[in-house]
Order: sequence, then C-alpha cells, then structure tokens
Amino acid sequence: MSRKILVTSALPYANGPLHLGHLLESIQTDIWVRYQKLRGNDCIYLCADDAHGTAIMLTAEKLGITPEEQIARVKAEHERDLAGFLIHFDNYHSTHSPECQHYSEEIYRRLDANGHIERRDVTQLFDPEKNLFLADRYIKGSCPKCKAEDQYGDNCEACGATYTPADLLNPRSAISGATPVEKTSQHFFFKLGDFENLLRDWTNSEALQPQIANKLREWLDAGLQSWDISRDAPYFGFEIPDAPGKYFYVWLDAPIGYMASCANWCEKNGRDFNDYWGLDSEAELYHFIGKDIINFHGLFWPAMLDSAGFRQPTAIYAHGFLTVNGKKMSKSRGTFIKAETYLKYLPAEYLRYYFAAKLSGAVDDIDLNLEDFTNRVNSDLVGKLVNIASRSAKFVQKGNAGKLSNTQHNPDLWQRVTAASATIAQLYEQREYSKAVREIMALADATNEYFDSCEPWKLAKSDDTIVVAAEIASQCIDIFRVLTTYLAPVLPELAKQAEQFLNCSLTWQGDFTPLHNHAIEPFKPMMSRVDADKVSAMVEESSDNSPPPQTAAKSKKAAKDKDTGIADTIAYPDFAKIDLRVAEIVAAEAVEGADKLLKLTLSLGEFGTRQVFAGIKTAYNAEQLVGKLTVMVANLEARKMRFGMSEGMVLAAGPGDQDIWLLSPDSGAKAGMKIQ
Ligand code: MSP
Ligand code: ZN
Repeated sequence: MSRKILVTSALPYANGPLHLGHLLESIQTDIWVRYQKLRGNDCIYLCADDAHGTAIMLTAEKLGITPEEQIARVKAEHERDLAGFLIHFDNYHSTHSPECQHYSEEIYRRLDANGHIERRDVTQLFDPEKNLFLADRYIKGSCPKCKAEDQYGDNCEACGATYTPADLLNPRSAISGATPVEKTSQHFFFKLGDFENLLRDWTNSEALQPQIANKLREWLDAGLQSWDISRDAPYFGFEIPDAPGKYFYVWLDAPIGYMASCANWCEKNGRDFNDYWGLDSEAELYHFIGKDIINFHGLFWPAMLDSAGFRQPTAIYAHGFLTVNGKKMSKSRGTFIKAETYLKYLPAEYLRYYFAAKLSGAVDDIDLNLEDFTNRVNSDLVGKLVNIASRSAKFVQKGNAGKLSNTQHNPDLWQRVTAASATIAQLYEQREYSKAVREIMALADATNEYFDSCEPWKLAKSDDTIVVAAEIASQCIDIFRVLTTYLAPVLPELAKQAEQFLNCSLTWQGDFTPLHNHAIEPFKPMMSRVDADKVSAMVEESSDNSPPPQTAAKSKKAAKDKDTGIADTIAYPDFAKIDLRVAEIVAAEAVEGADKLLKLTLSLGEFGTRQVFAGIKTAYNAEQLVGKLTVMVANLEARKMRFGMSEGMVLAAGPGDQDIWLLSPDSGAKAGMKIQ
C-alpha cells in the first residue's frame, strides 16, 4: 500500500547564500524523498525560506532596499542553487506569506486561550539612536577581564572570557555606535514547562534518534524555562494579534513555515491540509534538520502543535555538521564553499554521490575531504558503475545488432544483484545511505569481475563466438540497469541518461524482470572524471585569504568603515599576531596561464625561503624585482593555488593594474628582520 508522507528540511535563512553545509541537508532529504517516490509512495517534499528577524531587516537597510525586496532576491538565489543540485521540491515557499501569518496567529491564539502564554517585563540594552533593543551579538565593548577592545556582548575573542553584555566596559551598539541604555518592555513567553509530560513521552517514543533523545532528556531534567516569543518594533516579522508594536520572534513562525508551505501546496494541488496536520491525519510527517536546531524541533515545536490541536511529527531526523578537509568550513582556508561556487566548477551529482557515500542515520559530523572526493567519484562512478555500460555496449552493437540478447548468461549474478533490492531499500529507508552505496558498489565490482573473467573482447574476434560476447555484454548492461535504478535517488541525472541509453524507464516497484531481446541506443559518455584542477580553482575562489590576484592593499579583508575610510579599530594583540618580516626577492618569474601573477621566491635569511604568488605582474617585470627587499606576512597560512603553494603575502599599495607599489624597507635592513 502506498504511504502518504510529508517531508521537510529546515528553512534556510533569507539572509545569505547557501553553502555546502546547507546542501548536506537538502541532499540527504532529497535522496530520501526521491527514494520514497521511486518506490511508489505518495511523498511530498516541502521547504521555504525563513524570512524574518533583525538580521534580515538590517541587511536590507544597509543595501538600501526593503526587507521584502531583500528576501525576494535571496529566495530566487536559494531556489536557483537548490535546483542546481537537483533538489526537487514539491513546493518552496516563504515564512513571509499570508499562510504563515494565518497559522502563526491561529496557533498563538490557541496557546493563549489555553493559558500557555504569560506576559512579563524584561530589561534589556537598548540603542537610543536606532530605537532598537539590542540582542547580545549587536553589542560591542571592551572585555571586562583583559580590556581588549571591540569585543561582542557575550564573549571575548582575545582572552576567551564569557560574560553578559552589561559587564562590557564602554559598551556601544554595533549598529549605530551609540551608547546603549537599559530599557524595560513587556515580553510574551510560551510556558514550555506546562508540557513536561508530553515532552517526556515524546522523548521516550520512536520519533527521535537515541542521541537526540538523550540531549532532550538532559534539558528536561534541567527544568524547562518559558520561551520568549516576542520582539519589540522595529522588527521584520508578524505583529502579534492585539499587541501593537510587538512581533513574533522569528523562531515562533519558522516551523509554522512548514505548515504554510503545505497549505500553499494543498491550495495549488486541490489537497486537504488536515490530511497532513489534523489530529486524525494518517500521513507520516518527517522533519530533516541539523543538530544545532534540535531544541526548536524537539521541544518547542511538539508543544506548540499539541496545544494548538495539531498532530505530532512522526519523527525528527537530525544530521551532523559538514566539515571540509577535517576542519570547520573556513573562508581563509577556502573551504567555506558556496553552493553557487561549487556549481561553477563541478557537477552536482559528484557531491550528491560523495555525501551519500558518507551519510548514515546518526547525528555524526560528515567530512568532505576534497582529495577523497576526487578519488571516490573517479573510482566508483566512472571506474566502476558507468564503466559497466561503456565497456559492454559495443559488443551488443557488434554481436547482436544493438539488441540485448535473449538469454541470461549469468543467472547467479543476476539473482544476487536483484535479491539485494530489499536490503538496499531498507538501508535507504533508514537513511543508511553509505551502507546502501557500499552494497551497490560491491555488486558493480562483481559485475566488472565477471566481465573481465569472460574476456568478451577475445570472443568478439571470431564470428562463431561473437554472439556469446554479446550475451555477456547484455547481461552486464541489464545489471547496469538495476544498479542505476538503485542509485537513482542519489544520481537522478545519470538515471535519466541511462534511461535514454537503455531505451526504457527505470522503475523500482516489485521484482526486476530481465530485459531480453530489447533494442538499446548507442552508448554516449555519461560522466567524466573529476578534474583536480577544478577542485583547486573552486577552493581558490572560495578563499578570502590575502594575495593573488589581489595584494593586501586590495584585499577584501581591508573592509573600510563607511565614515572614516579606515578599517575598524583592532586591539594591539590582534595586530601582534601578524608576523611581518623583511624579505629579499631572490627569484621572480611569470606564471603561465595567469596574467596578473608573479611567482616570487623570498629569502628570510636564517629562516629560509618562501614561495609566494603575488598579483603584481601588471606593474612589475620579473627581472626588475630580483635583489629587491620588500615586506612580507610570514605567518600567513599557506594556500594551495592552481599553480602551487603560496606561503605568505607581500605588501603593496595602490588600486591595481599599473598602479601597484611594492613596499620596501630603507637600505640597511636585512632579510628575515622582524617588523614591529
Ligand atoms: N532558519 C533556521 C531553520 C528554521 S527551520 C524551521 C536555520 N537556518 S540556517 O540557514 O542557519 O540553517 C538551515 C539548515 O542548514 C539547518 O538545519 C542547519 O543545521 C543546516 N546547516 C547549516 N550549516 C550547516 C553545516 N555546516 N553542516 C550541516 N548542516 C548545516 O537554522
Ligand atoms: Zn578579554
């Protein structure tokens, strides 16, 4: 019987571009949904942009546009990027929508009517110039402990101290620079403690992964605090009914965005909202989320649904965080990779496959190791899977006029491949994609071994045995069909190409029946190897690190303050982290394929030599530089560029092109000397 299933992934903030971390979630979810659809279930995948909050309001203000314009722009970008990764939504909506306002108000009214809303005065820091209450991250000042300037309201980056904004010395608003004042205003709280029994039952149910259930139990044992769901104007969000100037906190309406997207989809498709959200709904409801937002989905959301008279989610599926090359994504390492940047250099399916090969049903972090990524895609997809079809096709053309044979040459292997269907299906269902991929690849290996051991290329040399070569190849191609079907949720584009080649559609319902005496199309290449240069170029473009093609003078890091023309003040300890040295240019040469770069070999005297790529070719000839002294940042993290490693940065001034002036010390300075 076909199951009715509603699936969501977390709603991305409409305040910036998507990166590969977001994609980990969308890809995990999309694979699951495609699997359900392929198996014939009535499954829909809904999402939306999360469009409210102070950050979005301030961004719009900075850009000189309305928040509505800002969120429309970002939504279009999000949808473009998600489509680029072959994420197929049945609906992609926005929390800034009439449906979301309707359900937010309705749910709030029901919570209030049931006595779960309390009103309390709260005293907070307030920006008297912008007339805005300041969240901790919008307050800066000097650290009460080490006196480092320019620290945020909750912790000090220089000494690591934690404190509250009220402890900061010389506090000021990070938005206007004004000195904040304390101000009291009424806030609305959702009394989460009223739902302790419900939440204990829920925590002990099947709805949560063990790791998540444990975390929730910890929170429950620590005692449930009431949750502040209101914010004062100015705020970009929905005004609270009968409370002028008070707005719903963005996280109140964010999960209601799931309902809003559903209501909008139901309206467009003639379906009934209550079939999904009503108390007697028979549909399954799953939320895919990251581990950072389990409190909202594991505590507040079930409590809100319960009090407002809606059904509970069937399960929450949380995943871990994405790291790249073993570390947190970082702009300076070039590993904070935007979805858009990835797509400029590499096909979506490579990443879909790599993530699938690493994902499990647990909450562990996932590492994208770029070298492993390259090897894995090349060996599995190109070397194993597609290879089965590409090496077999010609024997079917030659030996049987382009038709798959009428016999089963290796019934045992066919049996093994098709019998794996139930196991692989179950692994998809449990989100154990890495195990599913391992099973499928083991079958691909067995198929290639079978091909090799039969040596059809020898059989094809004689007219007597060319038919046998075609039988072997036919068997392999029919198995390729089954394996591609198994991988279709991960590789929808490859599946489409396979359908063209095989001249049939790929289905995974019921048993697989062999394709006998069936005409196929000539083989066309389906997937090319990952080009390691493309991977390097992607990392390079993602890096906001120092030099090429920019020098320090032009670097984005030197972001200027709008009013003074000078960058934000930094504390001395920050400056002291930079190890500036006198360097002698001992060799310089142009870099083939780069118009702006010179490759410099810099001597730091007793500290050895460094290779640095500098974007100064438009202003300097290589020859004229040799023997000159300059200034370099000697402790900058090395960066892999398309042309080699860059191990530092030279300092230069000027806007670019011919107008670049390299810094040099007065005569007498020696290579390696520290500049301080
Ligand atoms: N707007 C909220 C979600 C509201 S859901 C009702 C939000 N937005 S977000 O843009 O910050 O994150 C969206 C999703 O992406 C979250 O599930 C989050 O965990 C996930 N990820 C963001 N960065 C991530 C990684 N680096 N790795 C994996 N997932 C990450 O939270
Ligand atoms: Zn400090």
